[in-house]
Amino acid sequence: MRKYALGFLAAIIFSAVVVILFLRFGMMDPRADMPVSEMERGMAMPALDAAVERRAPDIKNPVPPTNENLIAGMKVYQNNCALCHGDIHQPHAKLADTMYPRPPQFVEDAADMPDNQNFYIIQHGIRMSGMPGWKNALNLQEMWQTTTFLSNMDKLPRQVSDSWKLAAGGSSADADVPSAASGADENHGPGMQMPKK
Ligand code: HEC
Repeated sequence: MRKYALGFLAAIIFSAVVVILFLRFGMMDPRADMPVSEMERGMAMPALDAAVERRAPDIKNPVPPTNENLIAGMKVYQNNCALCHGDIHQPHAKLADTMYPRPPQFVEDAADMPDNQNFYIIQHGIRMSGMPGWKNALNLQEMWQTTTFLSNMDKLPRQVSDSWKLAAGGSSADADVPSAASGADENHGPGMQMPKK
């Protein structure tokens, strides 16, 4: 039994040394634009889902999906998130394939997690990934509005998707209705100004 335990210990120490040497001698590929490995897909992603499900407080989203809230959330999203997660104009973001792990592309594949979990991620970010926590950059209302926008992205009312097209930098000809119809979106709280493109 004692021999067995010693052998087991030696195997663990040996493996640890191999891993340290592997890393120390620069054998790990540092590039972010590498194809995503099976290990990432099979281990890290389910681990993240499980961790968020366990930790995200069970709170209800206080922001209902009115057009006003969706447009406010859209602006926060367009200003802060679209570069990595894509938008209506560029569903596959420029950075989509050059980060590791990859940012999900929400226009191509709608966010399907419950609001409390999306909110938790937006607030705190995801470590060892490019996903920042936004709690010092956005206020609570903005984070909830973005959460609401995220979970309604695949079913936006016409008025909201039209103002998104304008905000995302598509020409106003992309919008199905004349741009005057999106005038309502000028009405939003302080701190959410959208630079006119
Ligand atoms: C610099 C790039 C970057 C920016 C900017 C960014 N994200 Fe992310 N985000 C990521 C990456 C990368 C992941 C994937 C992390 C992982 O899988 O471990 C991610 C993951 C997420 C997730 C989890 C999705 C899921 O299905 O697991 C949500 C929700 C999210 N981001 C929302 C946002 C919102 C909202 C914003 C803007 C307020 C934002 N992100 C800004 C890079 C970014």
